[in-house]
Amino acid sequence: MVKPIIIGNWKMNGLTQEADHIVSSLLAYAEKNKDLAPTVICPPFTQLYHIGKHLKNTPFELGAQDCHVAEKGAYTGNISAAMLNDIGVKYVILGHSERRSEYKESNALINQKATAAQNANILPVVCIGETKEERESGQYKEVLAEQLKGSLPEHFVGLVAYEPIWAIGTGVTATNEEIAEVILFIREKLVAQYGENGKKTLILYGGSVKPNNVKDIFATSELGGVLVGGVSLIPEDFLQLLTIAQ
Ligand code: G3P
Repeated sequence: MVKPIIIGNWKMNGLTQEADHIVSSLLAYAEKNKDLAPTVICPPFTQLYHIGKHLKNTPFELGAQDCHVAEKGAYTGNISAAMLNDIGVKYVILGHSERRSEYKESNALINQKATAAQNANILPVVCIGETKEERESGQYKEVLAEQLKGSLPEHFVGLVAYEPIWAIGTGVTATNEEIAEVILFIREKLVAQYGENGKKTLILYGGSVKPNNVKDIFATSELGGVLVGGVSLIPEDFLQLLTIAQ
């Protein structure tokens, strides 16, 4: 059976002491547990290089939380995908709802960022998700379809993460039926757009994933893995996810 991928999104958390504590817990775990589920750690930019050095030659991969569309140049305060690749980053989370809402990131911009990531040999993890109102009004499929169509490049090599906004950091998790329905919907869209490649794209779920609900979530048909926020900062809980995923 293919093991689900687990991606930990630290968001804007992780001073050096905390980062070191999490990383040393992960490394100690990997020493004792061989054959782990694929696991990606996405710390903030300030910790990427430092953590990347510790994760080198371990089962853990390094991910970032954003990238710029351009390769280099006069873009004060930004980080390019080429720079991420340069320090060993293999994945980048794009279009997270927190960036879509706080920075008004459009589908078109996310699409360009995903292309930039792919060009730098980094796998984009493109997030989509509806608000509570959109779910309750029954509009969520239209919203998700539009986000997918607009955010994914014409030639897409990456992952898609379904993160309903109402489930992020709220303690409310989508039910298995809700996740399964959306995954099937995303799969249909991917296959319609990308054919055979669309069948292989991993589709993840994110939103209040915790040790006590992850087993049920993993049981969702066609689920490729989970994108985890808060729990990725709590080593004992995060390691429980890894154990359950094995
Ligand atoms: O990207 C992960 C995410 O937004 C979910 O966060 O804290 O609900 O697991 P959390």
